[in-house]
Amino acid sequence: MRVLLAGGAGYVGAHTAVALLDAGHEIVLLDDLSNTSALAAERVSQITGRPAPLVVGDASDESVVAATFDEFGPFDAIVHLAAFKAVGESMEKPLDYYSNNLDTTFALARVGLERGIRSFLFSSTGTVYSDPSDLPFTEESTTSVDLSNPYSKSKRMNEVVLADMARVNPELDVTVLRYFNPVGAHESGLIGEDPSGIPNNLMPYIQRVAVGSLERIGIFGDDYDTPDGTGLRDYIHVVDLALGHVAALERAQPGFVVYNLGTGRPVSVRELIAAFERAVGRELPKVVLPRRAGDVDATYCDPSKAARELDWVATRTIDDAARDAWNWQSRNPQGFASA
Ligand code: UFG
Repeated sequence: MRVLLAGGAGYVGAHTAVALLDAGHEIVLLDDLSNTSALAAERVSQITGRPAPLVVGDASDESVVAATFDEFGPFDAIVHLAAFKAVGESMEKPLDYYSNNLDTTFALARVGLERGIRSFLFSSTGTVYSDPSDLPFTEESTTSVDLSNPYSKSKRMNEVVLADMARVNPELDVTVLRYFNPVGAHESGLIGEDPSGIPNNLMPYIQRVAVGSLERIGIFGDDYDTPDGTGLRDYIHVVDLALGHVAALERAQPGFVVYNLGTGRPVSVRELIAAFERAVGRELPKVVLPRRAGDVDATYCDPSKAARELDWVATRTIDDAARDAWNWQSRNPQGFASA
C-alpha cells in the first residue's frame, strides 16, 4: 500500500512510519515540523533501510496536499496525525486548535477523495469519552463534544465530520483510532518523544528529570480515589500503537469504524515513575503537588474490539516503555537537537 502520512515526522507519526515500512508498505511524510524535526524522517529511513521522503508543508493547505499527490501520488491511504495536541495550550488558543485540527482534515479528505484514496485513518483520543461510570471505556461508551478542553473537543468534532464523510462515500474505509496514553520509544533509541519546552505529559517529564534537565517530578495529587491515590491511565507503548495503525489499515473495510488503542491495564503515576526508576537503576527526585485542573481519577479502555477485528493487542509492558524511553532520552539528552 502507498500511504500519505500527515504529521508523519511527529512522535506517533515517526513510529507509525517505521511500522508501515517494516510491514512492506511505501510512505511519504507530510509535516510542517512545527513540533518536531526533519531528523525524525531521516531516522525512520535509517532504522528501516527504506526511503521515507518528507514534504515540509502545512496539511491544512489544500494546495500543499494536492502538490504532494502530484509529486508522490497516487496514494491508497491517508493516515492523518497532523494536529496540535497540547491540552493546556488549547485552553489558551482555542481558535488555533479548532482551525488547525479541523482544516487539516478538510484539506486531506477533500484532496484524498478527489484523487481516489481507498482508506482514511484518523488519530483521535480516548479523552472523547465523557462518562467515568462507563470505565473501562468501550467504543460504545458515551462520547461528547462537551469536553473539558478544545483539544479533545476538536478531536470529537473531527470524528463527527468523518462519520458524515463516510456516509456519503460508502466505498471508502474510514477508521478512527482512539489513543490512550502513548509512551516509550523505538528500541533503536533513534526516535522518541521530543516535546518542545517543558513537557506537559508525565512520561517525557520523567525522562527529562532522569537526564538531569529538570529538577524533580511533580506528582499531581495523591488523594484520588485510586489504590495509591495517584491518577490511573492506560499507557500504551508507542510501537504497539504504531502496529495498531498498520493492522487497522491492512484490515480496513468500507464504512466508518472506531477502535480503542490501549492496553486495558490502568497504571498509576507512582507505578509509572517506579518503572522508570527500575529502567534507570536509581530513584528519581519527586514531590507531591496539588491536583492539576481538569484531570480525572482514572481513564483506561477495553481494547477487545481491536483484538477481535484487527487481531491486534498491545504486548509491551510499562517496563518495556520505560527502558526504551530511557534508551532514547539518554542517547539524545536534548532530543533531536542533540544530533
Ligand atoms: N501527571 C503528573 N505529573 C506531571 C504530568 C502528569 O502527576 O508532570 C499525571 C496526571 O495528573 C495524570 C497522569 O500523570 O494523572 C497522566 O497525565 P498526562 O499529562 O501524561 O496525560 P493525560 O492523561 O492528561 O492525557 C493527555 C491528553 C490526552 C493525550 C495524552 C498524551 O489529555 O489527549 O495527554 O499526550 F492523549
